[in-house]
Amino acid sequence: MATINYDFTHKGDFEMRVTTFFGLEEILAKELQQLGGRDVKVFKRGASVTGDLGFLYKANLCLHSALKVLIPITKFEANSELELYNAIKEIQWEKFIELTDSIMIESVLNSEIFDHSLFVSQKVKDGIVDRFREKTGRRPDVDLIRPAFKLYVHIYKNEVTLNLDSSGEPLYKRGYRSDINEAPMKEVLAAGLVKLSGWESHLLLIDGMCGAGTIAIEAALWANNIPPGYYRNDFIFMKWRNFEEPLYNMIYDSSLNKIKEHKVEIIANEIDERTIKKARINVKNAKVDDVVNCNHQSFFDLMPQRSGGVVILNPPYNERMPLDETEKLYKEIGDKLKKDFKNFAAWIITSSPEGVKSVGLRPSRKIQVYNGSLECRFLKYELYEGTKKIHKLQK
Ligand SMILES: C[S@@+](CC[C@H](N)C(=O)[O-])C[C@H]1O[C@@H](n2cnc3c(N)ncnc32)[C@H](O)[C@@H]1O
Repeated sequence: MATINYDFTHKGDFEMRVTTFFGLEEILAKELQQLGGRDVKVFKRGASVTGDLGFLYKANLCLHSALKVLIPITKFEANSELELYNAIKEIQWEKFIELTDSIMIESVLNSEIFDHSLFVSQKVKDGIVDRFREKTGRRPDVDLIRPAFKLYVHIYKNEVTLNLDSSGEPLYKRGYRSDINEAPMKEVLAAGLVKLSGWESHLLLIDGMCGAGTIAIEAALWANNIPPGYYRNDFIFMKWRNFEEPLYNMIYDSSLNKIKEHKVEIIANEIDERTIKKARINVKNAKVDDVVNCNHQSFFDLMPQRSGGVVILNPPYNERMPLDETEKLYKEIGDKLKKDFKNFAAWIITSSPEGVKSVGLRPSRKIQVYNGSLECRFLKYELYEGTKKIHKLQK
């Protein structure tokens, strides 16, 4: 029988697997180390770390670049449905799940033996509830919306991995975005882009096409050390029998005490009036209205008041936008950057190769990221003073 991790139910250390978006793994690893995690190891779209229950709470509350904090429960081989069912039934679920707790199972498969994820989830659920029924005559309920225990089953060929979700709603759901615009960026990606850009709080930051204001808000959270979980203060581990409320409250209070009141200058520009109103609401909800200035203004009319800083642009994306319009927009962006953003580092996130060609500047860095399912490039343009140093794209 495979080893089963019940360690998280006690006070000792245990392994966690923290997930993130592609391209943000190193940022996550650094955050985990800075939070005091041990044995940090990067994997594709995540990093593993060792810590105790207090660290689990801190990770959920304080990580900017994490999507979920998972606890690996076990890994075993199964070559049939029956083997899967039997292995699941062997696990002493009663060590952490109570009859009154609700459960939910989600499966992701990459296997010729198991090819129907709903069916696999059903089998795993049967293994768990049958164990309870045989021992007590009763069984825990399934709750697909707000379960107390959310289990992820991953099957690759015949290798079954079980992870327990300690976060619940993914951590990008910070809770400050009440009314969102049409193409909102996930908060975790926005946080990652700010870090990748190398922006530091003494520099001016401009989000030239801000939409819901996500990039500007996430920059403010980094700058003032605001824990991203501050607004929601609701995680699935709070429903567990081993939830140590006084420990959590201590960690929550001490992370709020670390909030700084830096004089940071962040500008968020947006051309659309309704959208900038939403951005203003989000900025207020996030309690960063003292550092983020929202302007109803076109990026092309913006004249930076300081020489130098970082500008990030997430230009509008529309699959149906005609090619000549895309090329025109990106050419105008390139011209504006050359003319009015001398000494700035400009970053553009885009999924449009045609747009990139039209900017007319040579990027000094190209980073692959995904905005939802869209493969994008996050491109850096260094805009030095003096025309000679402007890296014109040689055609
Ligand atoms: C892809 S969205 C940005 C999404 C944003 N990152 C967020 O998290 O919500 C692009 C935004 O650029 C705005 N926009 C388009 N042209 C603009 C311009 N010339 N100046 C400022 N904003 C502009 C659009 O109205 C839209 O809200």
